[in-house]
Amino acid sequence: MGAQILDGKAISAEIREEVRKEVGKLKAEKGLTPGLAVVLVGEDPASKIYVNNKAKTSRELGFHSELHLLDAATPHAALMELIGRLARDPGIHGILVQSPMPGQIDEGAVLLAVPPEKDVDGFHPINAGRLANGQSALVPCTPLGCLEMLKRTGLDPKGLHAVVVGRSHLVGKPVAQLLLSLHCTVTICHSRTKDLGSITRQGDVLVAAVGKPRMITADMVKPGAVVIDVGINRGADGKLVGDVDFAPVAEKASWITPVPGGVGPMTIAMLMKNTLQAAKASLG
Ligand code: GUN
Repeated sequence: MGAQILDGKAISAEIREEVRKEVGKLKAEKGLTPGLAVVLVGEDPASKIYVNNKAKTSRELGFHSELHLLDAATPHAALMELIGRLARDPGIHGILVQSPMPGQIDEGAVLLAVPPEKDVDGFHPINAGRLANGQSALVPCTPLGCLEMLKRTGLDPKGLHAVVVGRSHLVGKPVAQLLLSLHCTVTICHSRTKDLGSITRQGDVLVAAVGKPRMITADMVKPGAVVIDVGINRGADGKLVGDVDFAPVAEKASWITPVPGGVGPMTIAMLMKNTLQAAKASLG
């Protein structure tokens, strides 16, 4: 295998440790404890694991942590009332409402109800707009995790051609904007792109965020590319596989993120970083 592995578990642990130290300093020097409220409506087993991990990690790092587990039948108005209370609570700096939400909940309205300065998911249109305009913003956690991985290669991103496969609001678009801010030349591809391989083969950096198991095959990758795999797909055997056909692509790439243990563990670390950023910003 040619490529070096970008170990998301190890990098995530380093970042969490950096955040833990900064939280200690913030408490000691400014008397401020960052607060994160995580909200889940319903019983989805995977979502329950995710929100428990988010709450547990935030406690471990010294945050004030609140986990609000609401019944699946919770009316929209009751959820909005809780978000309003958290929005006004000076001890809460980050609010995250886990998706997907049950049918009676208007997700768009929920997104708008979280104040942009507490939107640690970076999903509020104000934050999306600020990112698009190159202004400081709370940025979605998975794209931030991708960038952190790229940083760990030690490569200078300036002028590199970054090809992003996927145009979602959650990953594809924000990751492309972040790469632009690093002065990469950025191409975004998607399901309607013609002759996809001819474009992905130009990528010095290739970010795969499509949600199709192993769709990026070795013939689609430029020799020596940095390959960042955002896909988390469950195969027929129940195992997790990425969007990248890992073993053959690893023969060709210079750096690659595995699945599992790549971008996945970075997301929670970046959520902690965003909450710390929101808490610091609250000081003015
Ligand atoms: N569901 C799956 N991933 C996420 C995430 O990053 N944030 C929220 N709010 N819900 C999710």
